[in-house]
Amino acid sequence: MRIQLARHLACVKHYGRNRNLSIDVLESSNGSECSEGFLKCEECNQLYPVIDGVALLLENVAEYISSRPSLLGKWILSSKTSAMKEYLKKISSTLTKLTSPQGHNLYEVDGSLYESYNWTQFDFDSNDRFLSLLKHKMYPNDLYNKVVHSTATNLDGAALDMGCSSGYAAFQLAKKFAFVIGIDLSFSFISEARRRMASLRQGNLDFVVADCIMPPFHPNRFDLVIALNIIEFMDTEQLLDRIHRVLKDDGEVVFSSPYDYNRTLQVNKVGPQSFRQLLQKSGFRIGSRYVTSESFIPWTLRINERTYLFYYVDYLRARKASKGKR
Ligand SMILES: C[S@@+](CC[C@H](N)C(=O)[O-])C[C@H]1O[C@@H](n2cnc3c(N)ncnc32)[C@H](O)[C@@H]1O
Ligand SMILES: [Zn+2]
Repeated sequence: MRIQLARHLACVKHYGRNRNLSIDVLESSNGSECSEGFLKCEECNQLYPVIDGVALLLENVAEYISSRPSLLGKWILSSKTSAMKEYLKKISSTLTKLTSPQGHNLYEVDGSLYESYNWTQFDFDSNDRFLSLLKHKMYPNDLYNKVVHSTATNLDGAALDMGCSSGYAAFQLAKKFAFVIGIDLSFSFISEARRRMASLRQGNLDFVVADCIMPPFHPNRFDLVIALNIIEFMDTEQLLDRIHRVLKDDGEVVFSSPYDYNRTLQVNKVGPQSFRQLLQKSGFRIGSRYVTSESFIPWTLRINERTYLFYYVDYLRARKASKGKR
């Protein structure tokens, strides 16, 4: 992570209050980048490791790694300092008690959906079997381009991409905002996004591992939040509460969703109408053209050479109003 990013981050454990983090850089690749180290909350002493350049702003790293066991070995092999090796050893000693039988995550590098998102966002080929069959020319990343194209440029503003996966939308937003940050629970996606960031030499954005339900940010920080195709993965009411908290007054939020609950275990499901009602109840003003009419925007994932998921996603934009107001 960029060392200067530390001042934008807050401890995830003090909901709704500002608590800054200090940074202890153990390894730095070029003076401005922390490749190994710890962020620390001075109030509760919570430690957040930075491993291989990726900051993990998580309340419980041991629990996180218990559903992603293959990451721990990689982290231990790549760690360069004795302080990090000690920390990881401590984590691995608590792991046996926590390891869950599911133990597999679809969005890590060995998971079945990892390549699908790289394909949709960056790596598709216009000669692709499925895409070349379509009567109307269409690219899998059209959705993200549409979102960014419809967003006003704000060269003093800050934007947040929640559940960013490999970061395509964040890269595009960085051309319109002073500062952009992407968060995702997948360590592999965040590493991938940071690799792409380094090769593109884009200096005004960064990516960290964090949970959208416990965002590591101070209140009222962002002019724009985008939450694309993530609402099925979490309690939507909690997500809206967190977005409301980190947005500035009148800040804008953009959602897209296929409402595909086949992929998740959520019980509190929403659809186009109930989502709009919940948004208004949660203190957002929906842009007039999105209030009643749901949208059907094409979005494709390539699962493998013979399987594609073709969705029509709903798309809407809203602004933060005070809670209770519509
Ligand atoms: C369906 S993908 C959408 C990715 C991207 N926004 C897009 O539209 O291409 C869902 C993403 O959300 C991430 N995710 C799921 N639950 C999350 C949570 N609680 N906090 C942060 N990211 C989460 C997954 O790791 C995955 O990258
Ligand atoms: Zn704290």
